[in-house]
Amino acid sequence: MKLFDYAQLGSCRLKNRIIRSATFEGMADDQGRPLPSYQNLYQELASGGVGGIITGFVYISLEGKAMQSGQAGMDNEEKIDCFLPVTKEVHRYGSKIFLQLAHTGRQTRKEDTGFDVVGASNKKSPYFGGSPRELSTKEVYDIALRFADAASYAQRAGFDGVQVHAAHGYLIHQFILPSINQRKDEFGVDGESGLGTKFLEVVLAGIRKRCGSNFALLVKVSGGDDYFRGLTKEQFARFIRFLDRVKVDGIEISYGTMDNALNIFRGEIPYKVIFKYNPIFKLSNWRRRPFHNAWTYLWMRRKIKPFTHDYNLEYAKIAKELTDIPIICTGGFRRGVDMRRSLENGDADFISICRPFLCEPDLIEKLKVDENYITKCTNCNTCAVMCDSGRPTRCYRRMGR
Ligand SMILES: Cc1cc2nc3c(=O)[nH]c(=O)nc-3n(C[C@H](O)[C@H](O)[C@H](O)COP(=O)(O)O)c2cc1C
Repeated sequence: MKLFDYAQLGSCRLKNRIIRSATFEGMADDQGRPLPSYQNLYQELASGGVGGIITGFVYISLEGKAMQSGQAGMDNEEKIDCFLPVTKEVHRYGSKIFLQLAHTGRQTRKEDTGFDVVGASNKKSPYFGGSPRELSTKEVYDIALRFADAASYAQRAGFDGVQVHAAHGYLIHQFILPSINQRKDEFGVDGESGLGTKFLEVVLAGIRKRCGSNFALLVKVSGGDDYFRGLTKEQFARFIRFLDRVKVDGIEISYGTMDNALNIFRGEIPYKVIFKYNPIFKLSNWRRRPFHNAWTYLWMRRKIKPFTHDYNLEYAKIAKELTDIPIICTGGFRRGVDMRRSLENGDADFISICRPFLCEPDLIEKLKVDENYITKCTNCNTCAVMCDSGRPTRCYRRMGR
């Protein structure tokens, strides 16, 4: 299995096995319509030769929007024309593009969406706080329909497929995790698997029915979640068996939830940037600020996992043993030689990369020339924290981009 050979992902033939992992853009107007910078970003990535691109998460309904401003949406038919030029541009360079569909559930705030925060149950997110309202059974079916609507708009907008965001603590993940899902209806935790997979099953079935099998259906999942009584490896394995049974076209393996967001990314903790821009950590009372900041600093240092290379591979390996569905592994890939080895060892079928593409959209060419090339990204994580600033996502440390 070679990094730069053609490879099949569902109905799509990718020109190599490197995928740009979903990266929030912050490049849409207040109606969720992509701005010209959004198109330029994807044109630049596609011209750099990446096999596939997964967009940043788009909202499928207004109450499921993110806390961050500038998020793109695929919540109504009028958006189709806004995304058409983007997909056209990407296809001009022979890359494939998948729209990532998400509903934030409890991981957002009323002051940002204008709507009551809803969730699988009324359990609070430790980070976002608030008191989510548990969705009624009918509302859950309605949201599943919104996912299907968004996927069909994406298909008409020229996307090659969608990626359903079932990771990082967003709504679908909230249903899956037994530590959050306390429902008593049919969307509660299944007695046999110990997981709440029914919502995801309805979402996936709805998309397949609407878009057919020639439209790639990918899912992003988290291996672990950092919660007290969090997902065990055995439960993760059962989740993969579920995805194998419902037959998706690709599974991307990530980690964690937004409650400990820096465990999704790993690396440095840019405290100063966090305290300056993060609306949750930014305290209005300046007297309490030093105490609050010191406490946050200590808490984060204890909670955050260190950056190691290819840090989600242990979960990808579990998945590879249980299914023939292509496994995409994200998290900490920085050298071509490690990517190649992961494929050759049969630990993953595709490698997905996020932060390095922010400072090096031309990374593919560099890896082709020298597989020992080390990407310039230092995992400073300023890009991630600055998503809260309302500015378009970019690299802040390298290249002055
Ligand atoms: C700035 C930034 C934005 C991100 N946006 C998303 C997103 O919209 N959806 C998603 O599933 N993951 C998102 N991620 C997580 C990445 O897709 C990826 O899983 C993670 O960064 C690990 O890969 P890396 O080590 O190559 O950066 C984001 C990460 C960063 C740093």
